[in-house]
Amino acid sequence: MSRSAHPAGPRHADVLTEGHYSAPAADLNVLDEKVWSRTVTRDADGALTVGGIGVARLAEEFGTPAYFLDESDFRARCRAWSEAFGPDADVFYAGKAFLSRAVVRWLQEEGLHLDVCSGGELTTALDAGMSAERIAFHGNNKTVAEIERAVEAGVGRIVLDSFQEIVRVAHIARSHGVRQRVQIRVTVGVEAHTHEFIATAHEDQKFGIALADGQAAEAVRRALGLDSLELIGIHSHIGSQIFDMAGFEVSARRVVQLLAEVRDEHGVELPEIDLGGGLGIAYTSDDDPREPHEIAKALSDIVTRECESAGLRTPRISVEPGRAIVGPTAFTLYEVGTIKPLEGLRTYVSVDGGMSDNIRTALYDAEYSVALVSRTSDAEPMLVRVVGKHCESGDIVVKDAFLPADLAPGDLIAVPATGAYCRSMASNYNHALRPPVVAVRDGEARVIVRRETEEDLLRLDVG
Ligand code: LLP
Repeated sequence: MSRSAHPAGPRHADVLTEGHYSAPAADLNVLDEKVWSRTVTRDADGALTVGGIGVARLAEEFGTPAYFLDESDFRARCRAWSEAFGPDADVFYAGKAFLSRAVVRWLQEEGLHLDVCSGGELTTALDAGMSAERIAFHGNNKTVAEIERAVEAGVGRIVLDSFQEIVRVAHIARSHGVRQRVQIRVTVGVEAHTHEFIATAHEDQKFGIALADGQAAEAVRRALGLDSLELIGIHSHIGSQIFDMAGFEVSARRVVQLLAEVRDEHGVELPEIDLGGGLGIAYTSDDDPREPHEIAKALSDIVTRECESAGLRTPRISVEPGRAIVGPTAFTLYEVGTIKPLEGLRTYVSVDGGMSDNIRTALYDAEYSVALVSRTSDAEPMLVRVVGKHCESGDIVVKDAFLPADLAPGDLIAVPATGAYCRSMASNYNHALRPPVVAVRDGEARVIVRRETEEDLLRLDVG
C-alpha cells in the first residue's frame, strides 16, 4: 500500500485545550517500557521487535490483526509473583484474563496454580495437563454438570459463592464419595476503584456472601456442618485494575476478623485465605502499578499483624492475579487503513480489527496507548482516535492518542498491554474472524491460538 502522506490532520495544539488526554510524549518514537513487554525494542531501522523478531516479518507471517505474546515476559512475571509471595503462599493465575493450552503448560513449568471459572476453562486446563489439585474453580452460577466435572477431576478447591451452592456442592461430593475442599467467597464491603476505595452498596452485586449481617458466618456454619465439604478458608476478590492497596488491606482485615469469629464459635482455625486478583497494570504512561514484591509485602504484613492481634495462626495466603501477569506481555498489531482528518477535532485512524478484538475501550472506557511500529517518524504529533472496522461508532480501540502526522495506510501500529481480557473477550461481531495469539520467544514465533477462518464461522452455522 501507498506510504505517501495524507492531508495533514488537526494538530495537537488546536485541540489540547479540551484537556481529556495527556500531552504527546516528547518523542513519539520512544517506546515507554512501562507499557510494552520486556523484550520489545526498536531495531536499527526503527521497526519494533519482540523476542528478537521484527513486526514486518510477524505481520507477513501471521497477518494482522494479531496478538503477539512475549513468552519470556509471561514466564518472568509468573516467577516474580511466586518469588514475591514465597513458599508459604500460592499464586493462582486467573485464566479468564487469557487461557490456552500453551499458557497452562507455562504455568505448570513456572509452578503457578490456576483459577478457572467455567467448564471451558476447566477443560482447557485439564487437557493441557494441569494437575487438578492446583486448580481452583470459581463462579457465581456453576452448573451441576460443571461441579460434577470439577469434583470428578479432583480440583484442589471449589470456591462457594452462595447458600444454594454450599448444598449443591456438598450433595455432588457426597454422591461421588469425595470430601471436597472448598472456600467461601465473601463480600467484604469494599468497593475498589482504580485510585480509591469506597464502602458503599457492596451487597448489591451477584458475587459472594456478605460479611454484613452475619451471612458469611452463617455460610461457614453450614459448610462446617456438612461432612462432604472440607472448608479450608475464606475468599475475597474486591475488583479489578486496582492500584491502591488500601482496599486489599481492609479486605484482609475483615477476612481475618471472620476467621477469629469462626475460631471463637467453632474452635476451628481455617488454614487459608485468598485475597483474589485485581492488581492494576500500566495501559498508558500515566499508570503506576505496584511491583509484585511490594504487593506481597503489603498483604502479608497486614494479614500477619491482624492475626497476631486476634491470636490466630497466620493462614496460608493465596492471590489470583490475571491481568497483572498476562496483560503487559502482549500487544495487538494492526495495519492502518482509512485515515480521516476531521478539521478542528481529531484524525480518525481505522485499523483492520476493532471492538471484536478489544471490547474494553467500548465496554469500560478503558485507556490504551498506541505507537507507529513499522518505522519511526520525525513528523509532528497528530491527535488521533484509533477505531475499528465494525458497524458501530463506539467501535473505538484507543480513544485519544498521538501518532505522527505522516501516518499512512499500510503502516503498522501496535496497541500495548492487550494480553488480558482482549482475546478472551473477543467476539465475532460482523462475522469478524478472531485474531491469532502468537507466542514469541528467543527469535522464534509460534501460533498458540490460531486465527479463525470463514470455515470456522460456517461450521457453527448449521443451516
Ligand atoms: N479472582 C477472581 C475471583 C476474579 O473474579 C477475577 C476477575 C480475578 C481473580 C482476576 O482479576 P485480575 O487480576 O485479572 O484483575 N473483563 C474485565 C475484568 C473482569 C475481571 C473479572 N474477575 C476487564 O477487562 O477489565
